[in-house]
Amino acid sequence: MKRLVAPSILSADFNNLGKDIELINRSEADYIHFDVMDGVFVPNISFGIPVIEHVNKIATKPLDVHLMIVNPDHFIEPFVNAGASIITVHYEACQHLHRTVQHIKSFGVKASVCLNPHTSVEFLQDVIEDLDMVLLMSVNPGFGGQEFIENTYKKVSQLRKLIDDRGSDCLIEVDGGVNYETGKKLYEAGANVLVAGSFVFKSENPEAIISGLKQL
Ligand code: DX5
Ligand code: ZN
Repeated sequence: MKRLVAPSILSADFNNLGKDIELINRSEADYIHFDVMDGVFVPNISFGIPVIEHVNKIATKPLDVHLMIVNPDHFIEPFVNAGASIITVHYEACQHLHRTVQHIKSFGVKASVCLNPHTSVEFLQDVIEDLDMVLLMSVNPGFGGQEFIENTYKKVSQLRKLIDDRGSDCLIEVDGGVNYETGKKLYEAGANVLVAGSFVFKSENPEAIISGLKQL
């Protein structure tokens, strides 16, 4: 099963973002994860299109854009134009999720749906076969460096069963509180992509941490 790593730049050094992007480029990371926050859907504001446009000029890895925003339909095309390869919208932010997923895929990029910790996996059973990835939040969205929510392991197993029962190749990504201990258990439960922000960028050697996550 695919075991991928997506460092989140939320915890990167924004005074030297290019340096951290070059670090990710030469690392074993598979994606670059962008936590876009609007201060409405989540109680924090992070960054938007200009950051992704500039990173896209130097990035050598696919841009994995996590939209923690209301009305994501209004921003699919601008983020695609900024360079997103994967766009994740929140289940909780979409009135017509199937239409939103179709809209994302109409641009030829990968469509992903995120579930907050309180949202059950069952809510995806009628759209799972249209998805390239599901992102499970293992913290309440809005901030890096939070405590991992243990119930996430059960959700990963439930989602893995749903995906396998449908014969889908949809990836499972997990975001929040990922480190060597939680990451290993997440892979064992059936996750494919680990998003890690603080564990990577608050460390002495981010490249080594990324390699360590890949080898769990
Ligand atoms: C929460 C963010 C964080 C971030 C990773 O909204 O999505 O989960 O990506 O944070 P860490 O890895 O620092 O817990
Ligand atoms: Zn994220």
